Amino acid sequence: MKEQVDNWNKELSNASPEEVIRFFNDIFGEKLALSSSLGAEDQVLTHMYVNTNEKPNIFTLDTGRLFPETYKLIAATNNKYNIKLKIYFPNTEEVEQMVNNKGIDPFFESIENRKLCCNIRKLGPLKRAFSGLDAWICGLRRDQAVTRFATRKVEWDEVNNIIKINPLNDWSEEDVWNYIKSNNIPYNELHDKGFPSIGCEPCTRAVKEGEDVRAGRWWWEQPESKECGLHNQKK
Ligand code: ADX
Ligand code: SF4
Repeated sequence: MKEQVDNWNKELSNASPEEVIRFFNDIFGEKLALSSSLGAEDQVLTHMYVNTNEKPNIFTLDTGRLFPETYKLIAATNNKYNIKLKIYFPNTEEVEQMVNNKGIDPFFESIENRKLCCNIRKLGPLKRAFSGLDAWICGLRRDQAVTRFATRKVEWDEVNNIIKINPLNDWSEEDVWNYIKSNNIPYNELHDKGFPSIGCEPCTRAVKEGEDVRAGRWWWEQPESKECGLHNQKK
């Protein structure tokens, strides 16, 4: 699989994000899905995917701690594109056990607790979302974070046995916003209030002038640890 992934990366090195999506639509069909957090990048990808596939398969991991603005955007996106994002929730018993043992916001106390929460609220549901899929599309960009410099357009996720596709890998933040504005794509209203990157409500804050785009995510942690496990598995 690694060789195949290298070949695809070579073949697609100059391809636009839309060409990348078309390419994998043809290869994987219904075994392909877009994983959307409703962030700016994911809204761009939703627009492209809906326009290139008659049966787009888009899912969201609803951690139960998202911003009200994000829920509003789920509805607006479904409405605009006449689609239904598939929602995955965490396992009830696991959430109950965690909050009853460790408190309602255990993530502020240690990285270990934070990873436990991300595991229960995001990774568990993601594993279920992967069932029946051969490939998933994500909105990762190389320049988002130190943890993402090495991201490639196509990757092999060895842990989950699935192909991971990052069509916006070499886009800048400016490219994303130019595309959103020129295509009239709905976006999270928090982006206009200083939130360039949006995750769960308790773990996301607005960034200050000059701070990097992910500075508001798990802001109490060091940049090197700021991944929830969705994207730091072996390539
Ligand atoms: S995170 O790992 O730090 O939360 P980020 O918010 O930058 O990730 O998003 C990167 C990509 O991960 C998104 O473009 C999307 O593909 C996927 N992703 C992140 N959070 C979710 C979510 N709640 N539901 C579905 N996909 C998600
Ligand atoms: Fe839990 Fe925060 Fe991770 Fe959301 S981002 S799953 S609230 S630790």
